[in-house]
Amino acid sequence: MSTKNELITELENLQKQAEQDLAGSLKEKELQAWRTTYLGRSAELVQIFKRLSESPPDERARVGQLANQIKNNLEILFNQKLQKLNQEQLEENLQSERLDVTLPGRKPARGRLHIQTRVLREICHIFAEMGFQIFRGPEVESDEFNFELLNIPAYHPARDQWDTFFTTKEGVILRTHTSPGQVRSMRAYAPDPIRVILPGMCYRYEQMDASHEIQFYQVEVLAVGKDITFANMKGTLEEFAQRMYGEQVRTRIRPSYFPFTEPSGEMDIECFVCGAKGCPVCKGSGWLEILGCGMVHPVVLKNGGYDPQVYSGFAAGLGIERISMLRYRIEDIRHFWGNDVRFLEQF
Ligand code: FA5
Repeated sequence: MSTKNELITELENLQKQAEQDLAGSLKEKELQAWRTTYLGRSAELVQIFKRLSESPPDERARVGQLANQIKNNLEILFNQKLQKLNQEQLEENLQSERLDVTLPGRKPARGRLHIQTRVLREICHIFAEMGFQIFRGPEVESDEFNFELLNIPAYHPARDQWDTFFTTKEGVILRTHTSPGQVRSMRAYAPDPIRVILPGMCYRYEQMDASHEIQFYQVEVLAVGKDITFANMKGTLEEFAQRMYGEQVRTRIRPSYFPFTEPSGEMDIECFVCGAKGCPVCKGSGWLEILGCGMVHPVVLKNGGYDPQVYSGFAAGLGIERISMLRYRIEDIRHFWGNDVRFLEQF
């Protein structure tokens, strides 16, 4: 059976222990656990109240008073600790949400059009001002339009000029140039005179280097009518080059061969990248080929629905990446479709 002194000693020990347990840095959960241990319904302190009757009657009041005092003290300590904890939590939150109004603002990243989309639009605009309409053809083409109707029958050696991506479907390929649009647009307008441009992505199974990609934009230029001459073509292409690069631009047209034009040529522009001294882009020649061109072959005119005895026409296929390379002095064509934002963000 407990004596008066034992209960008092128990109470004093209890208080000491409770204060000791509260001294450390407690989290809220631990603090609530402390409260349950020392002030909860089954806490030792509450048990001592029940055991008061075990004390001699003249001591009960003193023990009871001490127990009450300790209970009140512990409650005060608990509330103080809780308040401190809440204050610390608040400060921590404020610290993490602190706003430094002196920091310079962050610019939101702005999206923009790909450099090639912009150049393509500019080219379309230049030709539109010269009276050309836009006509579109499919990127997945038939062998017939990409080759046959352009006077390039199966097994013709000229097919080697266009390293082709074939699909698993017989006779279906990725267009290697925008020229299939020639016959498509002629068939849409014949026998009316036409002046169209056909912008679009082309695909070739190429060995990639500084000036050759496996995908690139072309813009086909086609004019068909009566009395269209080689001089009309030369004038149109030179006018385009001047509007694109400025009046000082130097161009040249060299003879070439395409099965769908006769005579055929290729137009070069003096290489701005190296100032015509020779670099990897112009392969040391000082000139960069930007387009193929020529007078529409009679077979193609006929395939398009025009009588070659009455009508004539010129056509050209412009390589848009090469045109951009010269405009922006880009030394490697592989930057365009490499998706490196450090390159793209410059434009
Ligand atoms: C043709 O594709 C002809 N269809 C052009 C043409 C149209 C001739 C109408 C006559 C009449 P060529 O393969 O040379 O021709 O390509 C034309 C232009 O596309 C080139 O001058 C070049 O600027 C660009 N080009 C060709 N191959 C690539 C490539 N692998 N990577 C980037 N640009 C290319």
